[in-house]
Amino acid sequence: MSRTVEVLPDKTALVARAEDLIGDRITQTLSQRDYCTIALAGGSTPKPLYEALARRDLPWEKIHIFWGDERYVPPTHPDSNENMARTAWLNHVPIPPANIHAMPTQGEDPQADADRHEAQLREFFQTAPGTVPRFDIILLGMGDDGHTASLFPHTAALGVGDRLITVGNKDGQPRLTFTVPLLNHARLILFLVAGASKQTALNAVFAPEGDAQQYPSRLIQPEGEARWLLDQAAAAGVAIA
Ligand code: 6PG
Repeated sequence: MSRTVEVLPDKTALVARAEDLIGDRITQTLSQRDYCTIALAGGSTPKPLYEALARRDLPWEKIHIFWGDERYVPPTHPDSNENMARTAWLNHVPIPPANIHAMPTQGEDPQADADRHEAQLREFFQTAPGTVPRFDIILLGMGDDGHTASLFPHTAALGVGDRLITVGNKDGQPRLTFTVPLLNHARLILFLVAGASKQTALNAVFAPEGDAQQYPSRLIQPEGEARWLLDQAAAAGVAIA
C-alpha cells in the first residue's frame, strides 16, 4: 500500500485537485479496460466535487457509479447519499441509468438488502464466491470520530471479513457499507477530508500506533494507492508521517 497525503490551501482547492485526480484516473483506467468503476462517498464534503464533475465531458457510458455506504432511508430522503449525488451530479449528465448501481434500502431488512447488494456486485464484477471485486476508484470521507464509509467506532461492521457489504450502525441507525476487505481491494482510495474538526481524528489515524476500533479509518490500507486530500484547516497540527 502506498499512502500519499496532499494538503491543499482550502476546500475549493481540495475539490479541484480531487476532480483532476479523478479525471486523470478515469482516462488511465479506460486506456486499459472497457469501463471504470467509481464508488462514491456520502456526507457533505464531496458535494461540490460532484457538482464539478457534472460539468465535465466524460465518457459516461463507460463509467459505473456505486456508493461505498448508504443511510438506510429511501433514495428520496434528504439524508440519502444517493439523493445527494444524483441531485448534485448524476441527474445532470448523460450517464446510462443502468450504470448507476445504488444500494437497496427499501426492503425493510438491512441485512437482506446488504446481501442483495453483495449479489449485485458479484453479478456485475463476475466474481466467484470467496474473491473480492476490485474498484478502480473509491471516494471516502472521514468523520470527526475517525469513521469512514459507515464503519463506525467499536461496531461489528469493522470485523466483517467474509462479506463485501455489511450493515453498519450509527447510534442505532442502520446503514449499508462496504466492508474493510472490499475497500482495501481498491486500485485507488481517495480520502477527502476538510475542516478543523478532523484534526484530532487525523492525528490518531496517521499515528504509527493506534486503536483502529476507535479510529476505523486506520483500517483502510488498500492494496493499491491511498491518497489523502486534506485542506489546511484539517491538516493543521497533524503529524503527517
Ligand atoms: C456518510 C459518509 C460518511 C462521511 C463522513 C464525513 O454516509 O455520511 O459516507 O462516511 O464520509 O461522515 O462526512 P463529511 O464529509 O460531511 O465531513
